[in-house]
Amino acid sequence: MGEVTREEKLRLEFNRWAEAGKGQGMEQDHLPITLPMLERMQLRPDEVVLDVGCGIGWLVRLIARLVPEGRAAGVDVSDEMIRQAREFSKGNEHVRFEVGTADHLPFPDETFTRIVSIESAYYWPDPANGLREIARVTAPGGSAWILINYYRDNPECHQWTPLLPPTYLLSAEEWAELFRQAGFTDVHHDRIPDPTPTPDEYSGRWFRDAEQLRRFRAEGALLVYGTKPAA
Ligand SMILES: C[S@@+](CC[C@H](N)C(=O)[O-])C[C@H]1O[C@@H](n2cnc3c(N)ncnc32)[C@H](O)[C@@H]1O
Repeated sequence: MGEVTREEKLRLEFNRWAEAGKGQGMEQDHLPITLPMLERMQLRPDEVVLDVGCGIGWLVRLIARLVPEGRAAGVDVSDEMIRQAREFSKGNEHVRFEVGTADHLPFPDETFTRIVSIESAYYWPDPANGLREIARVTAPGGSAWILINYYRDNPECHQWTPLLPPTYLLSAEEWAELFRQAGFTDVHHDRIPDPTPTPDEYSGRWFRDAEQLRRFRAEGALLVYGTKPAA
C-alpha cells in the first residue's frame, strides 16, 4: 500500500470536522474577525473572488452578496465540506464550489480579482507553494488576503500545536515574506482583535481558562495581504 499523502490526511481530518457539524461553529467563530477584513477589502460589485479552504462556504455566500455583478467561488481539500457548501447554496447561481487543494487550485491563470483564505493557510502542506498558486490565479492588479488565528507572534495559541494536524507556526513577517516570494507587492500585515465578549468560565480544550481566551482575542487574528502587480 502506498503512503498516505499529507493532503489525504487533511481531507480525512476535515471530513471528520464537517461530519461533526464543525463547519457551522467555524462560521460563528470566524465571522467577527472576517467582517473587519471585508471592510478593508472594499470589494467592488463586479469582482471575481475565491476563498481557499472555504469550509462549508459561508464566506463565499456572504461575498456573493457583495459582488452582485461578479462571482464568488470556494475551494477546499475536504469533499465533505464541499458537499455541505453546495447543499447550503442550493439555487444560488452566484456561487461555485470545487474540491481542490491550495497546491493545485483548479482554475486557469489570472481568474480572480481577489483571493481570501480564513484560518486555513497554516495547514497547507507547502504554504510557499500555496501562495505561488494563489498568485498564479490572481488577475494582475488583484490582491490576496489571508487571515489566521494561529501564528507565532501570538503566544496564546501555541498550545494548539499538539491538538491540530501538522501545521506551520510562522510569524507575521515570515508570512509576509512568503507573499513577497510568490510575487505579491505592497505586502502588509495587521492584527484584527476579536470583539466577541469572553465568558466568565471556559471549559473547552483550546485555552487554559477564560483569561487566556480573553488575551488571545485581544491579541487578535493576523491579516496578511498583498497585490499582484498590474501587467
Ligand atoms: C479551520 S477550517 C476553516 C474553514 C473556513 N475557512 C471557515 O472559516 O469556516 C480550515 C479549512 O481549510 C481546509 N484546508 C486545509 N488544508 C487545505 C489545503 N491544503 N487546501 C485546501 N483547503 C485546505 C480544510 O479542509 C478546512 O475546511
